[in-house]
Amino acid sequence: YDPKIPQYNNSDPNSFASVSVRDRWPVILTQGIDDVHRETHVSKDEEKIKEGKWIVSELARLKYEAQHDRELTPLPDDGEADVAGYNEELKALGNAKWHSVPWLFSECYLYRRIASTFNQTQKWKGYDIFARQKMSTFRSSRPAVIELSARYKEIVTELESKHTVKGAKTQEELGQAERILFKEMCEICLWGNATDLSLLTTLTYEDIQKLQGSEARKASEKNIIVNDLDKAFNILRSAQKAETKERRVDIILDNAGFELFVDLILAGYLLAAGLATTIVLHPKSIPWFVSDVLPQDFLQLISALGDPQAFYSELSDDDKHAGKTPTPLSETEVASLKFLFEHWSHLHQEGQIVLRPNRFWTEGGSFWRLPKTAPNAYEDLKESELVLFKGDLNYRKLTADAAWPATTPFTEAIGPLGPGSGVRVLALRTCKADVVVGLPEGEDERIKATEGGGGDSGARKWAWSGKWAVVQFSDGKL
Ligand code: F6P
Ligand code: MG
Repeated sequence: YDPKIPQYNNSDPNSFASVSVRDRWPVILTQGIDDVHRETHVSKDEEKIKEGKWIVSELARLKYEAQHDRELTPLPDDGEADVAGYNEELKALGNAKWHSVPWLFSECYLYRRIASTFNQTQKWKGYDIFARQKMSTFRSSRPAVIELSARYKEIVTELESKHTVKGAKTQEELGQAERILFKEMCEICLWGNATDLSLLTTLTYEDIQKLQGSEARKASEKNIIVNDLDKAFNILRSAQKAETKERRVDIILDNAGFELFVDLILAGYLLAAGLATTIVLHPKSIPWFVSDVLPQDFLQLISALGDPQAFYSELSDDDKHAGKTPTPLSETEVASLKFLFEHWSHLHQEGQIVLRPNRFWTEGGSFWRLPKTAPNAYEDLKESELVLFKGDLNYRKLTADAAWPATTPFTEAIGPLGPGSGVRVLALRTCKADVVVGLPEGEDERIKATEGGGGDSGARKWAWSGKWAVVQFSDGKL
């Protein structure tokens, strides 16, 4: 249940894999070590301090092994059921070394190994070395958060009180307006993924803010090289017209902070517009790829919005370094943020927004394995009208991170989740890795020829930076 096409490998100098293992992962681990240092420093608990020192030495060892191309060692038994699967895979790979192992598996192993270090202690179980970073980056998204909350309040109020979209007079106009609004909400949700912390080793704060504003979004529309949003809208609209009682939309989440914020904007919109009756969110179970959502990130985000003035009275790390002082929010800004808080808390309490973790999402294999290794999760997703897969890693996992020709149909590249699977897949992905499928003939070559696109180097560099995106749909119920 893996594709025959070979996967991207850390040994390929033309792949983003090789940049990742050599340059990015050491930086991520160093930041993690700093975080544990910081936390140990403020602790008064002897046992915690002792364990903290041990964790630092373990993380430093991991960094050394990855940088110096040592073998990937079996995961210690930390009491979780997925250890066996990781270790079986390692065995099958046969003494795999860091610089010549499939990229996807080794990257998952990296985060799983970090988690196992914490799991082996008493005082640090489940500790998230990325939590501080996630919250701080969310703080620095303030301008975009405020802009979107005002817009959300306006749209949702209109939909809930008058069941219409502002300005729409006839039924036909309303239908059109709803389609446009749906696409806009999905595009906000898509570009929210461009600001991901694992790439922040190269992005500046200004870059992030530019990526998030509405102007930027409009300008970026031409960068969505395949856009199947109309198909997705048609599915939700027909279910709504057929008056199907339970109409569920699932989101396989990616990153916390701003991206989770825009996921909730989309979720709340779909419910208010009647395009869905329930939204099921799928977070991760261990700190994952730096910025991915854990259940506690969801709760923290909601509570930050509950008292926005207090939340923004603290500065983000970037602002502190820049010597800025906090600017209080205006009354209107507080009102829109609180509106979000109330709306989302209400939907969560009423069971219309549900959080459903599953260890499958942090296993080392691709989603080609879903039907076999996680039959319960698979059966559950079949119940959904539409399953959104957010972000780059989920896309790599859907396509098994294999080196498909770029013109391979999306429905073929997702293997067992394609037509006949019973699962309707919609991938919303800004490209941050090599794999890309479903492109029209000649498109890959065209973009390669643009500045920084990779040219004739053999590397698909254009697909690494999050500048380009694909929105691809597969109707598994056909
Ligand atoms: O390409 C860089 C990278 O860190 C990949 O390793 C990973 O697939 C991706 O970014 C994470 O991005 P996202 O949060 O969009 O899944
Ligand atoms: Mg992520």
